[in-house]
Amino acid sequence: MSVSSLKRLSVATLLMLAASPLVVAADAKNGKTIFEQRCGICHAVTSAAGGPVVGPSMVGIVGRKAATVEGFALYSQALKSSGLTWNTKTLDEFLTMPMQKVPGTTMPMMIADAKERGDVIAYMSTLKK
Ligand code: HEC
Repeated sequence: MSVSSLKRLSVATLLMLAASPLVVAADAKNGKTIFEQRCGICHAVTSAAGGPVVGPSMVGIVGRKAATVEGFALYSQALKSSGLTWNTKTLDEFLTMPMQKVPGTTMPMMIADAKERGDVIAYMSTLKK
């Protein structure tokens, strides 16, 4: 195959991806930007001291039980007794409308857009201990 036909092929593939709403790959980089704009004021993303303390740290969020950050004293009873474990599905549901998933939670911020939610969750998945 010639170089130019390869180029045409990849352009066609890109166009197909762009046109198909089902093929939306989560973009952790975009998620980081959104997180910094809407979440970072309350939630720390490293274990370093001196970060935001209004909300619990997001380090290791994916895979941990809700309301279990040691030393975070402001958890609501609602979140503590939610029985949730955070994974991509429960995070997606929670961030769609926190008050609906966990009535009584004090977590104030929703992400209405599904693609943006996916991107933020992809970013949060990178916040390992
Ligand atoms: C104004 C401060 C504030 C902002 C902004 C905020 N949060 Fe929160 N968040 C909280 C508080 C407070 C809690 C604890 C809620 C509770 O105990 O009911 C929380 C809890 C959470 C939890 C559960 C944590 C755990 O340990 O179980 C997740 C996940 C979360 N927030 C994600 C986000 C995301 C993503 C954003 C940005 C879209 C965001 N938050 C924006 C204050 C905030």
